[in-house]
Amino acid sequence: MISTQPRIALLAEQVDRTVSDLIASLPDPDRLSPDDHRGLIARYTTVLEGNFIYWMTAAHISVASAEARSIIRDNLHEEVRDNHPGMLRKFALAAHAAPTAADAAAVQRNLQNVRLWVAELSAPKIILMMAFFEAFITRFMPYLAGLATRRGSAELEYTAVHGTLDAAHTQGLLRALDAEMAFGLEPVPSPPDLFHGVEVLGPLIRTIIDPRA
Ligand SMILES: [Fe+2]
Repeated sequence: MISTQPRIALLAEQVDRTVSDLIASLPDPDRLSPDDHRGLIARYTTVLEGNFIYWMTAAHISVASAEARSIIRDNLHEEVRDNHPGMLRKFALAAHAAPTAADAAAVQRNLQNVRLWVAELSAPKIILMMAFFEAFITRFMPYLAGLATRRGSAELEYTAVHGTLDAAHTQGLLRALDAEMAFGLEPVPSPPDLFHGVEVLGPLIRTIIDPRA
């Protein structure tokens, strides 16, 4: 097996830069209305609640190497065992920001694009997309918690858990990516192609941040 470590380090840097750009684009909450705060939490909830475990499952069934499968399985196990969708729902309800039909409609087009892309079951691109997703989630948690606090909520279990947990998950998924690329069942896509999942998920995250984007 050939080590792909230097390549993984480069991919990790690129993921980090993409996440940094998204975090830098977050609007100042002071300049947003209470309904903007609500909408942002609601759109995040509508995307994450029903899709995160499904997309991680897609990563699980798309990989070929035993090591990648085991890392992704552990991630899924934690999501289900600790009821992360329920934790997120509690967070949104406590902030009076449960998603409405209009919130679902705002993310619909970009969400469908991610689903269509995920259906291709293309490892290692899905693993890289999920590593990027976890990295974004970790760094987004303080902002999301701030919005909930402004809405009078003290229910911050979801943001506390994901602000620390997902950093380890990102590292785990990058190890899974390394294992999958070293396994070499398929030719490794070139970097622009490898980032296809990140490019499809990015616009969805931007719509969560600003539905007019
Ligand atoms: Fe989670």
